[in-house]
Amino acid sequence: MDQTPRCRCKIWLVLCMFFICWYFMIHNAKWYSLSSPTTAFRHPTPPIEIIDSNQKTISQNTNTGNVDDQEKTGEIDWLHDVAQMQALEKELEPVLKKIKPKPEKKMKNMNNETVIEKKTKTRARTKPSCSGRYIYIHDLPARFNEDILDDCRSFSKWQNMCPYIGNSGLGPNLGNPERVFSRSGWYATNQFMLEVIFHNRMKRYRCVTNDSSIASAIYVPYYAGLDVWRYLFDHNISSRDALAIDLAEWLREQPEWKKIAGKNHFLVAGKITWEFRREVDEDEEWGNKLMLLPEFKNMTVLTIEKSPWHSNDFGIPYPTYFHPRTDNDITEWQSKMRRRRRRALFSFAGAPRPEMEESIRDEVIEQCVASTKCRLLQCSYSNLKCYQPVDVMRLFQNSVFCLQPPGDSYTRRSTFDSILAGCIPVFFTPGSAYVQYLWHLPKEFNKYSVLINEDDVRHKNVSIERVLSRIPARKVSEMRNEVIELIPTVVYADPKAKLERFKDAFDVSINGVLDRIRNVTKKNSRFDFDERFSWKYFLFGSVEKHDWDHYFRYSMNQKVKQADAEANESR
Ligand SMILES: *[C@@H]1O[C@H](CO)[C@@H](O)[C@H](O)[C@H]1NC(C)=O
Ligand SMILES: *[C@@H]1O[C@H](CO)[C@@H](O)[C@H](O)[C@H]1NC(C)=O
Ligand SMILES: *[C@@H]1O[C@H](CO)[C@@H](O)[C@H](O)[C@H]1NC(C)=O
Ligand SMILES: *[C@@H]1O[C@H](CO)[C@@H](O)[C@H](O)[C@H]1NC(C)=O
Ligand SMILES: *[C@@H]1O[C@H](CO)[C@@H](O)[C@H](O)[C@H]1NC(C)=O
Ligand SMILES: *[C@@H]1O[C@H](CO)[C@@H](O)[C@H](O)[C@H]1NC(C)=O
Repeated sequence: MDQTPRCRCKIWLVLCMFFICWYFMIHNAKWYSLSSPTTAFRHPTPPIEIIDSNQKTISQNTNTGNVDDQEKTGEIDWLHDVAQMQALEKELEPVLKKIKPKPEKKMKNMNNETVIEKKTKTRARTKPSCSGRYIYIHDLPARFNEDILDDCRSFSKWQNMCPYIGNSGLGPNLGNPERVFSRSGWYATNQFMLEVIFHNRMKRYRCVTNDSSIASAIYVPYYAGLDVWRYLFDHNISSRDALAIDLAEWLREQPEWKKIAGKNHFLVAGKITWEFRREVDEDEEWGNKLMLLPEFKNMTVLTIEKSPWHSNDFGIPYPTYFHPRTDNDITEWQSKMRRRRRRALFSFAGAPRPEMEESIRDEVIEQCVASTKCRLLQCSYSNLKCYQPVDVMRLFQNSVFCLQPPGDSYTRRSTFDSILAGCIPVFFTPGSAYVQYLWHLPKEFNKYSVLINEDDVRHKNVSIERVLSRIPARKVSEMRNEVIELIPTVVYADPKAKLERFKDAFDVSINGVLDRIRNVTKKNSRFDFDERFSWKYFLFGSVEKHDWDHYFRYSMNQKVKQADAEANESR
């Protein structure tokens, strides 16, 4: 009885040795950078404790003191640790899967008939009818888009944004420095270039029509965010509102508008909704009033941060640095992220908000600095360079959790960078993602993220480290898998891309738009709920009392005013 298990164990070892050798041969270079037993694990005092889900599962499965010792010193004897071998095999799974189909291909090539048959079959499957999906693109005068790009010098006072317009809005090519990214598809994309990227994707959308009478939706390619960006500082409200009012008038005159009062029109605004919701006509107030104009209230507006208290805007992901061209670009990146060894339990990249009374950033940074398991990439106004894509992506790839506290507003581009890096996002209010990206992120938010109450952080009543390190390794691993599965859904593919298997953020947004327009153009369709509760209505389908009500007590503008009032009181 004793003999058989030991014997099996030996066969196991031989098999695993074979795996290692084979893996070593095909992935020679990557092996060292990923999980080299000699470099990383023999490090006597790792600067940051190595937290790895696989390791944790080991200590659960094999109750030997041996493993505990190994965990403490960071030394692992790879060739004699069966559990590690199992972990390794798990890591190899995606590679194995990728290798296996090859012989099939050869067989197909020998027989021309099957090749042709399969090709036509997949084509038929991936090219469904455009019925109900036709989109007409308004041919706007250049002042609403192209001319705004020519004015790129005036977008930012601090930085020349013109290079970021290049490559269809993707920005300068990043290459693959230090192998942090993958072979191709990486650009220094600016977070506010979505309007340009989306427009270029729309031009190549499969079901574009020049016949508006058969279109299910009408796209208005106005660069709303880039327009207002030029005037956010040092400009009076009339210059901020001018083009929005101009467009409203232009649209109203079109035959397409008159049919159903613009209900089938949509627009992409690549800045947060608060730039477009100025409620008072005073020069000191922020932004323009685009979203409050009656024309835009009838339209569907897609934006990188929506208002939880209004029903005409819908959140879609910020653009990230990755813009794949093929399905393979995506699967390759996903398996790279699955294999990553993540040495930090959690990390934070961002700047404090000293001027914002109720910001929890200071508290978050303090907790990160105090923890040996946290890595901080602190950005300040004097150190703008810290936002190098390569540094941010490297940090997130090395972290299990990525903290996403609100900044100037609820949402952050960083959330999507962390998903892209397979790092589980940690939110402090449901306003940061759960009520925002309803089309792109699963409603079961605890499958892919962690929510820590911002009030608890503010009142120093919670240890982020303790919360995160108490999550069982198995759960962490499941969450990470979910996050990695989300990658295609939150990236915007290169406008020249040909994705077949995956739907990217653009495809998902188009589905959402068509669905939404179908709903609002239905006869006798009426939203019979108080618009202020739209966050609840859209997320839960009801406006009843909810645990999250306290997160959404005030509108953002009221919140800012409230903060001012409190600051005055305490003075
Ligand atoms: C198979 O197809 C290739 C090119 O598609 C062609 O050159 C070759 O002659 C074909 N072979 C047979 C057996 O039909
Ligand atoms: C659409 O384009 C086709 C070909 O370019 C043209 O023949 C047709 O008249 C156009 N239809 C409309 C409504 O402009
Ligand atoms: C707003 O500013 C523009 C140019 O900066 C100026 O021409 C215009 O007169 C100003 N309007 C008002 C109402 O102050
Ligand atoms: C918006 O739609 C309503 C009907 O729901 C219509 O009465 C109104 O005139 C429309 N507004 C504009 C500016 O077309
Ligand atoms: C702190 O947290 C504990 C447990 O979550 C809770 O019972 C307590 O009321 C909180 N205290 C404050 C001041 O929020
Ligand atoms: C459209 O209506 C359907 C069914 O009532 C609903 O499930 C869906 O969430 C709605 N979509 C939007 C974008 O409002």
